[in-house]
Amino acid sequence: MYTEKVMDHFSNPRNMGELDDANGVGMVGNAKCGDIMKIFLKVSDDGIIEDISFKTFGCGAAVATSSMATELIKGKHIEEALKLSNAAVVEALEGLPPAKLHCSVLAEEAVHAAIKDYYERMGMHEKAEEIAENEHFEEHEAPREH
Ligand code: FES
Repeated sequence: MYTEKVMDHFSNPRNMGELDDANGVGMVGNAKCGDIMKIFLKVSDDGIIEDISFKTFGCGAAVATSSMATELIKGKHIEEALKLSNAAVVEALEGLPPAKLHCSVLAEEAVHAAIKDYYERMGMHEKAEEIAENEHFEEHEAPREH
């Protein structure tokens, strides 16, 4: 049912945990399944994602899609990372069962929510607004201890 790639990222998730020095944190949830995904970004002054991590309270596919999403955008510019689609995550995982496609949507949304938070913290409110207008994710309040 699951590809080897999915099983690999589920069994050995990459970039799992929290980042103490994150400057962008996004948390989204899916109301139907109740799963929650949180992404932490450490963005450099020139907009490069220097470090990234995730915490997922959810199903195995949610863990695998968050893990893959972090791998796909690590080291990229945030503008580039913003283009990450759930389809790209699914493709990189070599497929997901139809019932699990929404897990990849959650990964895309979590990345976008984290970038939006980064823009807000940097005072780039117009950019944050742009994301908010294009997205309809169910955002959860992200902690702002930093
Ligand atoms: S079952 Fe909802 S995110 Fe996987």
